Amino acid sequence: MAQINENFLKIPATYLFSEIAKRITQHKEANPTAPIIRMGIGDVSLPLPDASVDAMIKAADEQRNAETFRGYGPEQGYAFLREAIVINDFTSKGINIEEDEIFVSDGAKSDTGNIGDIFDVNNRVAITDPSYPVYVDTNAMAGRAGEPSVTGEWTNLVYLSCNADNNFVPALPTEKVDLVYLCYPNNPTGTTLTKEQLAVWVEYAKANKVILLFDAAYESFITEENVPHSIYEIEGAKEVAIEFRSFSKTAGFTGTRCGYTVVPKQLMGYTKSGEPVALNKLWNRRQCTKFNGTSYIVQRAAEATYSPEGKLQVQALINFYTENAKIIREGLLKAGYTIFGGVNAPYVWAKAPVGMGSWEYFDYLLKEKNIVTTPGAGFGASGEGYVRFSAFGSRENTIEAMKRLEK
Ligand code: MLT
Repeated sequence: MAQINENFLKIPATYLFSEIAKRITQHKEANPTAPIIRMGIGDVSLPLPDASVDAMIKAADEQRNAETFRGYGPEQGYAFLREAIVINDFTSKGINIEEDEIFVSDGAKSDTGNIGDIFDVNNRVAITDPSYPVYVDTNAMAGRAGEPSVTGEWTNLVYLSCNADNNFVPALPTEKVDLVYLCYPNNPTGTTLTKEQLAVWVEYAKANKVILLFDAAYESFITEENVPHSIYEIEGAKEVAIEFRSFSKTAGFTGTRCGYTVVPKQLMGYTKSGEPVALNKLWNRRQCTKFNGTSYIVQRAAEATYSPEGKLQVQALINFYTENAKIIREGLLKAGYTIFGGVNAPYVWAKAPVGMGSWEYFDYLLKEKNIVTTPGAGFGASGEGYVRFSAFGSRENTIEAMKRLEK
């Protein structure tokens, strides 16, 4: 008899964004002509940069000839992309990261979900609340989260509430933890930490042998000074942090799929007897066993985002969504909402009307305004009473949505 991993029975039956997609489909079936505007999942609406498409066409063409055809590539990513990442994302910013500390992947969702493979099931995990649901769900699947309570919170997770009262800056855990997920610029609240605020976490991690799992998927949307693009801007962070990056939101790769994870060589985990072990080696071993690398064609597309014309095209995409975020911020403020985020991130976090829960307000916006948002409660208990607006739509739809809300 094949027994299942019963942890799967404890997690919500559907993933947050699948549940939202289901509700949209139901609404569309009941109202086939409804002019639905999607501001829910952070999926981009603009096409890929030309530089990336050209690179993919060229790379695809290479597959016609035996001399240029590529079979299995390096599990860690091709040297051409790892080198481009190191030079453009780190060296140029004064951060010393080496090529063999970069692991190219099919995106930050997979990596933030899979990273748990290299950590013991008994580690205590702290998660900012609200947070990207992948962190909670994958720890629950692994059996690291304990049991879900009636409020949906897990018995073994430590929740670091981020709310208007603490200005969305998580307080350090008051109990012992081993792993902490931080995502900045934050999904879902769109808020950020300053360098000083992030340095507090690095110090804490150093003092307590804690590993920080830093999701920087939205770093390219930072507009303000003093907001770190990488945790490695903070001194000492290479001793305590793994960083996750993505080409999805930066360069429109949500469907193309490419990201990378940085695991510094000096970063150590510990055996039960306290022996240090390099996490870089463990992640490398994990990737070599379970992953055969991102496709060559996609890696060429990612490399092209660092070419001179690629950089300009990527910046144009980011500017476009940043302007959408501004339109959303201004529109929501005009309509009387209390809002957060949206300045250094493509998400605006809005308070639902008093007395209305997140899902209730989500349903109201869908049914009455034909606007899809993401209910804050789907990101954790502290998200209750909020909805998230994504700035990744078209300009026309973004403006139209704000008009509908003004009414
Ligand atoms: C989101 O909407 O939170 C993201 O698009 C989800 C993801 O990147 O997987």
